[in-house]
Amino acid sequence: MAFSAAARQFYQSEIETIREAGLFKEERTIHSPQAADIEVEFPAGSGVRKAINMCANNYLGLSSHPEVIAAAHAGLDSRGYGMSSVRFICGTQDIHRELEERLTEFLGTEDTLLFPSCMDANAGVFEAILNDQDVMIADRLVHASIVDGMRLCKAMTDTFKHSDMGHLEEKLQEHQDKRFRLIITDGVFSMDGDLAKIDEIVALAEKYDAMVFSDESHSTGFIGKTGRGVHEHCGVFGKMDIITTTLGKALGGASGGCVSGKREFIEMCRQRARPYLFSNTVAPVIVAGALKVMEIVMSSTERRDKLEWNANYWRKMMIEIGLDIKAGESPIVPVMFYNAKLAQDFARDLFAEGVYAVGFFFPVVPKGAARIRTQLSAAHDQRHLDIAGEAFRKVGTKYGILGKGKKEIIEMYGV
Ligand SMILES: Cc1ncc(COP(=O)(O)O)c(C=O)c1O
Repeated sequence: MAFSAAARQFYQSEIETIREAGLFKEERTIHSPQAADIEVEFPAGSGVRKAINMCANNYLGLSSHPEVIAAAHAGLDSRGYGMSSVRFICGTQDIHRELEERLTEFLGTEDTLLFPSCMDANAGVFEAILNDQDVMIADRLVHASIVDGMRLCKAMTDTFKHSDMGHLEEKLQEHQDKRFRLIITDGVFSMDGDLAKIDEIVALAEKYDAMVFSDESHSTGFIGKTGRGVHEHCGVFGKMDIITTTLGKALGGASGGCVSGKREFIEMCRQRARPYLFSNTVAPVIVAGALKVMEIVMSSTERRDKLEWNANYWRKMMIEIGLDIKAGESPIVPVMFYNAKLAQDFARDLFAEGVYAVGFFFPVVPKGAARIRTQLSAAHDQRHLDIAGEAFRKVGTKYGILGKGKKEIIEMYGV
């Protein structure tokens, strides 16, 4: 049926409402490989200009690493472009299994299953292992893909206040009558950059006979002394029941994700997880690139160490400049504006100064919590950070918010 005039009008007015509320998301077009220095066109048709990228998930700077690119080329030559199949029909190559074994070793688990993305891993894992006799108890700030995965699962859903261990304990007591209890958290919370208290969560799980799930998408490769994730950082490496993570951020940044954990859970995902059963295999070229990434990450901590140095340097600089940042220890450093339009305007002015960063606002973050989420990379040199810092200082001065806290910024700009 044709797209009716009434429907078209309805959506045009919806889009206008989003625009008027200052909540319209515009894509910037990048004309270069992903890196610390990129070439960006924004707005469309305005020409391409150079910018420092301060908002990629390219934590280890491996997205355009020459060795990864060479390995991907070699994989393309030796294993072809596409598999034209899901995994269980004819989409599993030797290199898929090899990558799963590397990830298992790196994450300190028993087995791993690749998915087309971590969004798919999260969408499939809960339904594959739990049913209506069970309960999922999730931190209130888990990633949207986990929320969607929980919606697809018949187990009861409950939540605990963000990182509130007392509240989690109450919930575990309340649900002692269920067959299985699964505690669900992000390792690093993607919008705020804070780390889950995984050691305390594991201790509570042991006390109340529960299982622990952590999405390590924003930690795999760089959090912990050897970059294995928040479980390494918190001293509970090897104790996780289920980890999901992505190849789309630190691990080369292309695409693909996985579920990793206790052998039986992985086998259940292989048998039952719908995004695994009904979506195409990760392309061989990506698997070949990711294998090289794993080799780089497992042979040296040099990149993860540089990232840590960069993150500390940037946090300190933002505080000295007088910007209102969220405290934390990850390479995610949110600069708070509270007001969505202010965050958007600030990002636009930063771009005029040659710095690429994006304003985040509702529904990506709660209303009244608009921010620019800066993200550090091992690809940044100190020079990048100094230039970007100066741009933040200049634009911050223009808006009169340097040295101001939440209350004052909201008084000036509202939410
Ligand atoms: C915490 C978290 N989990 C999962 C995902 C989804 O990862 P992917 O891009 O592999 O689907 C993201 C991506 O934004 C994320 O931040």
